[in-house]
Amino acid sequence: MWTPKLIMMNGELMPFGEARLHPLSLAVTYAITVFEGLRAYHDPVTGRFLMFRLDDHVRRLQVGMKLLRFDEVYELDYLRESLRRLIRANEPDSDVYVRLLAYVEGTGLMSTTGPAGFTAAAMPRDKPKFAETGMSLGVSSWHRLSDNASPPRIKSTANYHNARLAALQAKADGYDGALMLTADGRVSEAPIACFFMVRDGRLITPSTSSGILESITRATIITRWRELTGAEVEQRDVDRSELYFADEAFLCGTGQEILPVTMIDRLRVGDGGIGPVTQRVREDYFNIVRGLVPDHPEWRTLV
Ligand SMILES: Cc1ncc(COP(=O)(O)O)c(C=O)c1O
Repeated sequence: MWTPKLIMMNGELMPFGEARLHPLSLAVTYAITVFEGLRAYHDPVTGRFLMFRLDDHVRRLQVGMKLLRFDEVYELDYLRESLRRLIRANEPDSDVYVRLLAYVEGTGLMSTTGPAGFTAAAMPRDKPKFAETGMSLGVSSWHRLSDNASPPRIKSTANYHNARLAALQAKADGYDGALMLTADGRVSEAPIACFFMVRDGRLITPSTSSGILESITRATIITRWRELTGAEVEQRDVDRSELYFADEAFLCGTGQEILPVTMIDRLRVGDGGIGPVTQRVREDYFNIVRGLVPDHPEWRTLV
């Protein structure tokens, strides 16, 4: 397994262990940071790496920088080329997970808006835990943040305080993970992934007004489901009690990929196994991200 050699700060490559940020920067003191987790999939036959929906990740980061009123919003071309350069410089020999963070590196008062800085790191990442076995979720008593308080739609570091509380509670309570509800009791998302459920063959996911991150994996599944089946994914409010009607459920995200959910609140989801819809979505997802089918070449960027 390869190890990260070089990290990138503000476009400069340096030894991984030498990255530094001032503790009084706004990035640290007030969590004025937005970030992305991306993947580059390795093809062992050709040796090439394909980054999945790179431009969409950068665009979401740019909206986050705009919303937080950073002095500078990095250009798409610049970040795209920086990440490709970073991956090549690390000479990986298997799948790559990339963290890209943009922040206010300046020190000062809370409303300081610059100078902005960014860090990008490329790392190996194991297959997500529970990918083969499925996982149990507990509905959290921590509510998901609301859009008008700390918008979950953007991937801001500050939002993960809320997510972490839910994740730690779930662990303490003996679940594999948490599922959060909005303040008015609708299903929202998991701490680091979006939620889908299946009822009578229909695929359902909470709408983007349910306090969720605008997930790129979620959007991918919605598009592919339409293309594969001709049916729309139902994007709507999901009451908590509807969870217990699900035949199947899964979480999705760049890091988590597709994770089957087999129990919610210690009640079996369907028959407690990994169902056919989840398997179909998962198989298609890996075919797409690894370029094993020719569809959507615009989603894959050659490193
Ligand atoms: C809170 C949250 N929701 C959803 C997702 C999935 O988003 P994406 O599919 O863009 O990786 C993530 C992943 O980072 C996340 O942190």
